[in-house]
Amino acid sequence: MSACGPFELPDPSRAIWAQRQKLSDNLDRIKEADEILKEVMGGPKDFPRQQWTQFVSLILEFQPDLIIELGRGWGNSTCAFSLAAEWLQDVNCKILSLCLSDAWQTKTYPRLLESFSRHDIFRRVEAMIADIRTFDFTKHLAGRRRVFVFWDVHGWDVAEAILTNLLSRLKDVAHLVVIHDMADASHMAPDCLVGDEAAWLALGSAMPKFRFGSMCSQYEEGILLEDFATRNQINLRSAESSYFVNLTPAQVQILTSLFGPTYFSQYGFWYFFSAYRPQAQLQFRVSRLLDGLEAADTGASQPEPVSSKSGPKTLRARLRAFVKPMERR
Ligand SMILES: C[S@@+](CC[C@H](N)C(=O)[O-])C[C@H]1O[C@@H](n2cnc3c(N)ncnc32)[C@H](O)[C@@H]1O
Repeated sequence: MSACGPFELPDPSRAIWAQRQKLSDNLDRIKEADEILKEVMGGPKDFPRQQWTQFVSLILEFQPDLIIELGRGWGNSTCAFSLAAEWLQDVNCKILSLCLSDAWQTKTYPRLLESFSRHDIFRRVEAMIADIRTFDFTKHLAGRRRVFVFWDVHGWDVAEAILTNLLSRLKDVAHLVVIHDMADASHMAPDCLVGDEAAWLALGSAMPKFRFGSMCSQYEEGILLEDFATRNQINLRSAESSYFVNLTPAQVQILTSLFGPTYFSQYGFWYFFSAYRPQAQLQFRVSRLLDGLEAADTGASQPEPVSSKSGPKTLRARLRAFVKPMERR
């Protein structure tokens, strides 16, 4: 079984260090896939390039038997997960990939079939065009022992559905969730923190819209996630808190010389957590935060309605006011 034991949240820095030889031996395959993706997309998009080695090593360490990709887009993450699943030993890992977009079916996959030297690796991928908000995960989870979830789809509604339809079902299954497009302010340069967009882009990420303590999020799901984690005492960890804190300068130097600055960085721009709590009662509905605001909107708990408007628009406006967006210069 995994180096992580029966279940332990893996440490990304330990994973990339432990898997460095395997990654280095196979770096040409990663580069080949990355080049094809860039050609199909007309340049790098949606996926900071250090994430190829970060996610592949994390999956090799975690050893899932199912990877659920929420948001496939052009398929950068689909390719990274396919390579990782192929390199896993002793685990037959499937990839369930969900997206509204058909870019994989119409553009990326045909191009990979034509020119990627190992296109047989995609046999593990079930790439579905489906709406995550209404998707039934039940049969896909049956019999799975370790599940890796990649959350790269954005917005309120879909975040609520992921919490209630997927994570509530995973509570009793060992799993790891990686959520994309986040950042840890504790490790960002001062220029980033005062809202210099160019400083974020130079590090490989767009500037986040929201900040809660040190957690920065590009999209609204960060708000729901913070609420969910706080209510359930779930530890949300940043990639940066691992790569910056747990790697020694000598290890950073070795990893940089093995992969080059393109494919190794201590910045991840993702967070990770697990809601694996077999004995515990968790609250998956995004109720407390939203119910309180809804009640205020409809006047249910107030003698006088605080607003004549009701419904999601007012709710969103209230949440926007509630969570102060990062200042822009
Ligand atoms: C940021 S992209 C994913 C990028 C991808 N992970 C990669 O590495 O290239 C997010 C994708 O989520 C899809 N999406 C948005 N809402 C969705 C929903 N409700 N159900 C399924 N997919 C959705 C969009 O069509 C978009 O392709």
